[in-house]
Amino acid sequence: LISVRFSRTRRDGEPPLVNGWIPFLGKALEFRKNAHGFLAAHKEKHGDVFTVLIAGKYMTFIMNPLLYPYVIKHGKQLDFHEFSDQVAPVTFGYPPVRSGKFPGMDEHIQRSFRLLQGDNLDNLTESMMGNLMLVFHKDYLDGESEWRTESMYQFCNSVMFEATFLTMYGKPAHTNRHSGMVMLRQDFVKFDNMFPLLIARIPISLLGGTKIIRDKLINYFHPQRMSTWSNTSGFIKERAALFEQYDCMGDIDKAAHHFAILWASVGNTVPATFWAMYYLLTHPEALAVVREEIHCVLKVSGLEADHNRDVTFTREQLDSLLYLESSINESLRLSSASMNIRVAQEDFSLRLEGERSIRVRKGDIISLYPQSMHMDPEIYENPEMYKFDRYVEDGKEKTDFYKDGQKLKYYRMPFGSGSTKCPGRYFAVNEIKQFLSLLLLRFDMEVVEGQEPCSLDSSRAGLGILLPATDVQIHYRPRQAREEE
Ligand code: HEM
Repeated sequence: LISVRFSRTRRDGEPPLVNGWIPFLGKALEFRKNAHGFLAAHKEKHGDVFTVLIAGKYMTFIMNPLLYPYVIKHGKQLDFHEFSDQVAPVTFGYPPVRSGKFPGMDEHIQRSFRLLQGDNLDNLTESMMGNLMLVFHKDYLDGESEWRTESMYQFCNSVMFEATFLTMYGKPAHTNRHSGMVMLRQDFVKFDNMFPLLIARIPISLLGGTKIIRDKLINYFHPQRMSTWSNTSGFIKERAALFEQYDCMGDIDKAAHHFAILWASVGNTVPATFWAMYYLLTHPEALAVVREEIHCVLKVSGLEADHNRDVTFTREQLDSLLYLESSINESLRLSSASMNIRVAQEDFSLRLEGERSIRVRKGDIISLYPQSMHMDPEIYENPEMYKFDRYVEDGKEKTDFYKDGQKLKYYRMPFGSGSTKCPGRYFAVNEIKQFLSLLLLRFDMEVVEGQEPCSLDSSRAGLGILLPATDVQIHYRPRQAREEE
């Protein structure tokens, strides 16, 4: 490993600097393995704001969530896109959007995100429900009544990957499902396994066959092929039309952009779905309340759980599933480990609360690490415990959480913050709700007894939802079949 001499000395007004000889890459990987513990130990020693050199970058961590608003509102001096515009193109293989080569494209891309939200969610939700039912029925509910065994992650991955893909990109001509979906998913998993290394800017040429796999994945989205697909979401259609306006953008570059959106839309959603399902299935009291809530909503709308009819949920019905939403948010709290990054655009003084401020140098990174907040016992009693109704109070969503006696503006941040907050967050929560509702309505399912509790694999700490360290075996059978016995 390369070592760099720590040449910078702390100036007046700057946060404490974690000093010493720091292995260039080693620290980054060590950090990734146990970021939560690493930061907690430094917080203990240096207080709630400190600077560490990680992978060649000076990173200032703001550990106290009461200080988060001071960072999040600093849009002008603290920029997120500078970082993502360097890292995403290298990871997904497209030319940087803000390089000057594609004038106006960045603004258009940002504007396209509205197509994932608000009224646009109605179409997405309807399409997702149809696609979820298609995949569930064809692959898992094909009439057999006996119990089957499956790996839970595998199950979530195969259903959510394909249903999300169909909802985003549409279906091929003359048939409902894309050929080669299993291969695409397998290649995606291989690429995704390398994702933490690519984000750490390890050249793809050093990562074995990863480049070949990425090229294959990108090629799946060749504009010629995509032009034959129908039922494509407005979001993807608008982006495809935008890319057509730039003559200097090659077909493979366009395809690479679409591939990046595939990663954004399933990379976190699949593990998030896994955790939401795992916690429900391993907490019978939560499962009973959530199941009852889903049945109630369907009954109120006159749509009893008739197994021969398609289930439809309106967006309002999905919004009214308070306990289901709380259970999903609770599993996101327990499994998310994303880092919010801002890059200082100039030397400046970052105002924190009261008279307090810190000096920041141009090019430095300011980081929020919400996992530390999610696991803070002062904010969340018994933070390592899954409490499905943690976010419900008096029949409404609970939004008041406290630190040092003060109400927190930010208390749950799996989707990032401020202007760079995930634009797909409403769609993501909706699709997980749809997946779980169908699961509870259409399947009998249980976790196979005698397995170790599932733990988090921290190897992608900082990058989003953590994967499980091991898969979990489940038994399932179609509900309808049982009732007809
Ligand atoms: C960005 C989380 C699902 C589309 C992000 C960011 C996070 C995140 C943490 C970075 C924000 C920041 O750094 O401040 C998640 C989680 C998901 C999820 C936890 C699932 C549980 C989705 C879905 C879509 C999506 C389903 C699309 C359909 C995007 C896009 C960006 C993004 C396009 C980049 C935004 C930009 O460049 O400004 N997501 N996401 N995400 N997400 Fe999500």
